[in-house]
Amino acid sequence: MVTNDETLFEKVVNLSKRRGFIFQSAEIYGGFRSTYDYGPIGVQLLRNVKDQWWRTMVQLRQDVVGLDASILSPPAIWEASGHLTNFSDPLVDCKECGARHREDKLEDLTTCPSCGKTGSLTEAREFNLMFKTQAGPVVDTSAEVYLRPETAQGMFINFANVLNTSRKKPPFGIAQIGKSFRNEITPGNFVFRTREFEQMEMEYFVPPAEADEWYRYWCKERHNWYLDLGIPDSKLRLQEHAEDELSHYSAATADIEFLFPWGWDELEGIANRTDFDLKQHSEASGSRLEYHDANNDERYTPYVIEPAAGATRAAMAFLMAAYDEEEVNDDIRTVLRLDPRIAPYKIAVLPLSKKPELIEPSQEVLGLLQPHWMCDYDQTQAIGRRYRRQDEIGTPYCVTIDFDTLDDQAVTVRERDTMTQDRIPIVGLVEYLSERLNL
Ligand code: GAP
Repeated sequence: MVTNDETLFEKVVNLSKRRGFIFQSAEIYGGFRSTYDYGPIGVQLLRNVKDQWWRTMVQLRQDVVGLDASILSPPAIWEASGHLTNFSDPLVDCKECGARHREDKLEDLTTCPSCGKTGSLTEAREFNLMFKTQAGPVVDTSAEVYLRPETAQGMFINFANVLNTSRKKPPFGIAQIGKSFRNEITPGNFVFRTREFEQMEMEYFVPPAEADEWYRYWCKERHNWYLDLGIPDSKLRLQEHAEDELSHYSAATADIEFLFPWGWDELEGIANRTDFDLKQHSEASGSRLEYHDANNDERYTPYVIEPAAGATRAAMAFLMAAYDEEEVNDDIRTVLRLDPRIAPYKIAVLPLSKKPELIEPSQEVLGLLQPHWMCDYDQTQAIGRRYRRQDEIGTPYCVTIDFDTLDDQAVTVRERDTMTQDRIPIVGLVEYLSERLNL
C-alpha cells in the first residue's frame, strides 16, 4: 500500500523509535544532534546487513580477504591520501541568523534558506571534514591524530602486509567494515548523513589494463547485491559521474542510488581509483607498494576498483523499501517485508497463554530453534497484538504453542507476508523452517 509517499520517512522514523531500531543518541540529555544509537532490534538489522555484505564480498569468494584497521591515524596518512588538502566542503555562514550551509547544495547563492534574508551569506571558505584529536598526554602538534573519514586508507597502507601474508595476487581485494567519522556541515535525513557512521568498503587491486573491465564488473555485482536482498528494481539505479564531478583520485565513478522519500540519493559509490593511493603512500612512506609478477619478472603498481557502501545508510534503505501497510479486517496492518536474511529476528516463539503448562513446552521449542536462528520470545498481551508487533519488526515466522500442543506435540507456524498458518509437529519444525528461511 505504501510506496513512496511523503509520509514514509516519518513513519519509518517513528517505527524505529517505537520498536527499538534506532534511538536519538544521548536522548536523556536532550539528544546529541545527528548521532544515533541502534537498539535491540536495530543492532540485529545492522549486523545482518554487514554479515550479508561480508558473506558476499569475502566468504563466498577466493579473491578477497578481510581486514580490521585502526580508526585513529597519524596525519601522514591523510597528507598522502590528499584528505588534508581536498577533503573539504565549501561552507557559507548567514550573517543574519548564524545558520551554516554547504555552498554546493544551495539553489540560490544570494539568499539564506534558513531565514530568507537576501545578501546575508558570507563568501565560501573550505571546511575540512576530518575530526582531529590528540593522542597521549602532551598537547602539541606532534600528538595530533585523526579519526578516519573512510576505511579505505587502512587497506592501502596494509597492501604490502596483506600481499606478503595472504598469497594473493592481482586481481584480489581487501575488504573492511567499520566506523568512519566526518564533521558534516549539514547532517540529516535521520541516519542517511551522520557524523559517525559505518562503511563497508573493498579495495580490489587489478593489473592496470584490466581496470575498466573490473570497474564494470563491480558496478553490476554491487547493484545485484541490493536487488537480491529485496530492494525493488524500480527503487534502484546506477548513475555514472560526469568528468567534472569526479573525486581527485578517480578515473571513473558510479553511484548506486536508492529512491528515498526525498528523491534519488546515493547508497554506494564504485570508483576506479587508478594507482593514485598506492603511489601516494609509496612516495610518502618510502615503502614499495607494488606487485612483482614472478612469471615475467615485472613490477607494477596495481589500479584499484573500490565499491564503497554505507552500512548504516543501507540499513535505512532496507527499512524504507520493506515498509508496508495493508488493510486487514478494517484495520491497518504495518508490516516490514524484509528479506529473512536481514530480518532482525527470524522466528518469534509465542505461547498462547501465560499458563505454566504452556510456558515449559514454549521454552523447549525456543531451545530447539535458538541454536539455528535469532529468535524472539514473547508471552505478554493477546496473540493478535503479538503477531502485529512481530509484523512491525519484520519477523518472517511466528511459532505459537497452544493447549492442543500438549496433546498433539505440534505448533502453529504463521508466515508474516501471507499470514497463512500451518500446523507442524515439533519434531519436524527445524526442517520445516530451514526449507523456508533459505539462509
Ligand atoms: N572510500 C570512498 C568513500 O568513502 P564516499 O562516497 O565518501 O566514498 C562511501 O562514502 C559510502 O559511505 C557512501 O556511499 C555512503 O553510503 C556512506 N557515507 C558517506 N558519508 C556518510 C555519512 N556522513 N553518513 C552516513 N553514511 C555515509
